[in-house]
Amino acid sequence: MSVLKPSSAALQSAAATIRSGGVVIMPTETVYGLACNATDAEAVQHVFEIKGRPADNPLIVHIADVSQLKQVAESWPPLAEKLAERFWPGPLTLVLPRHPSVPKETTGGLDTVAVRIPSHPIALELIRLADCPVAAPSANLFMGLSPTNLNMIDPAIEIDVEVMLDGGPCEIGLESTVVDLTDETPRILRPGGVSRAQIQAVVGRPLGSLPPSFVRKSPGMMHRHYAPDARVVLVDEAPDGEAALVFGETSNSLHIRMPNEPSAYGARLYAALQAADSRADSVIFVEQPPDSADWEAVNDRLQKASAEPEF
Ligand code: TXA
Ligand code: MG
Repeated sequence: MSVLKPSSAALQSAAATIRSGGVVIMPTETVYGLACNATDAEAVQHVFEIKGRPADNPLIVHIADVSQLKQVAESWPPLAEKLAERFWPGPLTLVLPRHPSVPKETTGGLDTVAVRIPSHPIALELIRLADCPVAAPSANLFMGLSPTNLNMIDPAIEIDVEVMLDGGPCEIGLESTVVDLTDETPRILRPGGVSRAQIQAVVGRPLGSLPPSFVRKSPGMMHRHYAPDARVVLVDEAPDGEAALVFGETSNSLHIRMPNEPSAYGARLYAALQAADSRADSVIFVEQPPDSADWEAVNDRLQKASAEPEF
């Protein structure tokens, strides 16, 4: 495995790896991804194995240009075009009817496919050079913290990866927003880099709410997720002398001061949880952000990080 600065030779080599069925770590604006050819069932199965991810948890397919949409989606409603025009390239994933060229291994057995165009220039160039749709889940072990820089990647993942492209820290730091467009009413399956208000403004009518049975429709919605080793406990005010993510002045070295603004907080969250994890005995206290719309994606990840493991 080699860590490469993204020179054009490195990108060529990573693209060749993807074309020949290998796995590459690719930076995106949201989190680092474990990338392979989305149309190669064997490569996709390898990605599932590396992550230890259940086969029914579908991957997101990354394309470099809207013209590639017809290779991965059977059809798309006018709303998909409107959302794509407004938010692509960027942290928005659209769930659409699957095209037969995308194997069911990629979509976890579903007849739908999740697609996005990332905005990170290295990801875009890599997908262009690979000349195929690229499946990429976050480059963490199943249920672990998504890496927002190369240092966060678990050595257990690196072992099976041929190339890691260093794109520096991820600008957004939380995963893309996943929007399901396969039902009459569009729904947010996972809040993320594009806010509900931004999507709502384009959709022009209320987004659907999630039925309680939804956990199976997007397995990333499972309760326990994005979790460090230590238990995460949400509190109003973190106790002194304990590992914690706090707002305001820090009173001791176990406390990590977090930004007061949601997108800056989101960009720091996973790295901060990992840093807190290395200092924690068994618990990380996290001071709860406001329960307001602009904190939705951050609060979603904190809820999942703090969920009880037996869920
Ligand atoms: O920002 C991101 O989306 C990152 C970067 C690397 O692009 N990728 C990412 O992938 O977060 P992953 O595999 O960690 O999360 C994919 C999410 C999961 O919650 C999965 O259940 C959902 O997307 N998903 C994928 N395909 C789906 C489908 N056909 N229907 C419903 N949900 C789907
Ligand atoms: Mg993930």
